[in-house]
Amino acid sequence: MSSSKLFFFFLFIFLSFSYVKISAKSFTFSSDITALQAFKAAIKTSSIKPFSCLGSWNFTNDPCSIPRTYFSCGLLCTGNRVTQLTLDPADYVGTLTPLLSKLTQLITLDLSTNKFYGPIPPLYALTDLQTLVLRFNSFSGSVPPSLTSLKSLETVDLSHNYLMGSLPNSVSSLGNLKRLDLSYNKLTGSLPKLPANLIELAIKANHLSGFLYKSSFDGLTQIEVVELSENSFSGTLEAWFFLLPALQQVDLANNSFTRVDIPKPTNKNSDLVAVDLGFNKIEGYLPVNFADYPQLASLSLRYNRLRGPIPGEYSKKESLKRLFLDGNFLNGSPPAGFFNGATSVSGSLGDNCLQKCPVSSQLCLKSQKPSSICQQAYRGKPMS
Ligand SMILES: *[C@@H]1O[C@H](CO)[C@@H](O)[C@H](O)[C@H]1NC(C)=O
Ligand SMILES: *[C@@H]1O[C@H](CO)[C@@H](O)[C@H](O)[C@H]1NC(C)=O
Repeated sequence: MSSSKLFFFFLFIFLSFSYVKISAKSFTFSSDITALQAFKAAIKTSSIKPFSCLGSWNFTNDPCSIPRTYFSCGLLCTGNRVTQLTLDPADYVGTLTPLLSKLTQLITLDLSTNKFYGPIPPLYALTDLQTLVLRFNSFSGSVPPSLTSLKSLETVDLSHNYLMGSLPNSVSSLGNLKRLDLSYNKLTGSLPKLPANLIELAIKANHLSGFLYKSSFDGLTQIEVVELSENSFSGTLEAWFFLLPALQQVDLANNSFTRVDIPKPTNKNSDLVAVDLGFNKIEGYLPVNFADYPQLASLSLRYNRLRGPIPGEYSKKESLKRLFLDGNFLNGSPPAGFFNGATSVSGSLGDNCLQKCPVSSQLCLKSQKPSSICQQAYRGKPMS
């Protein structure tokens, strides 16, 4: 090595060391450190196990500096800013500090499967936040309206908490939101207008009520999954619903719908694959138009108040693999197509008023209703 090369070599070593020294003191953006300290301080020390992520957070060291002897998990930095807070499921008990709002470059906040309680604080300043996952905790209070000002949000999963009150009307302003899961909470009220780019909506097992209005779903050209089972929705499920252009999976079981209006698909390439309308109060005849949905593989209308015969079209439908029609007042003879090996449908036609449901078929294992109940159900009406 020439002497000048040697000089630069030592200069380089010197600079690298001084850089490490500086970074060890204050590399991380200082208000990010304040936020992380407040975040940890709001969690009961007794619930922080030594080998958990939070157990490794030691603020005499720098959170974002490398190598990671301390802060070995639970957060990710991009440069000197904290961009991800993804805790391990370690039964942390605590509240969520509003000072988290200081992490202004946070992209992901995931605290799933812990024991956070109390309200979800307003997080106004987290304008870069794309993923908010707080599922399986004990958060209470309302879905904070401030959430709807976080315009970068793409995924919000607050399922399995104790959230109450109604959904903020401003939720429709979340133009980037693709996935919203609020299942297993105690939400009340009706469904507001939904964000236009939503792909998956899940609000199962809450106390939502009222009708499903077209205005809630207007412009939702990408919605594929709608899971609203175990609520108290009522009224008619109207034709526009099944014409949502990207719809694939519908679970509206265990509500109080009384009518369903199934249109013929306007799009020959309809992707509708699964529909569960079981345990409602749907009256009328079985909608024959279901047979026209080319991909439909699973259909449940079990435990409703349907009457009349099973359309022969159902038994000719090759895509259909699961069919549950049990617990209605269907009558007549079930289409022979179900039993001659032409299709391979599983499910149940039991607990109806069907005649000649062959017990050799798995579809007919569950017995039919007693004739007295069937006579009562059809009293004054022509038996078809
Ligand atoms: C925190 O880190 C310092 C070294 O930077 C160490 O001396 C101290 O013991 C650590 N504290 C805990 C609780 O591990
Ligand atoms: C719907 O309600 C029925 C009857 O109460 C119950 O057996 C079933 O487990 C419920 N299904 C769901 C998905 O909640």
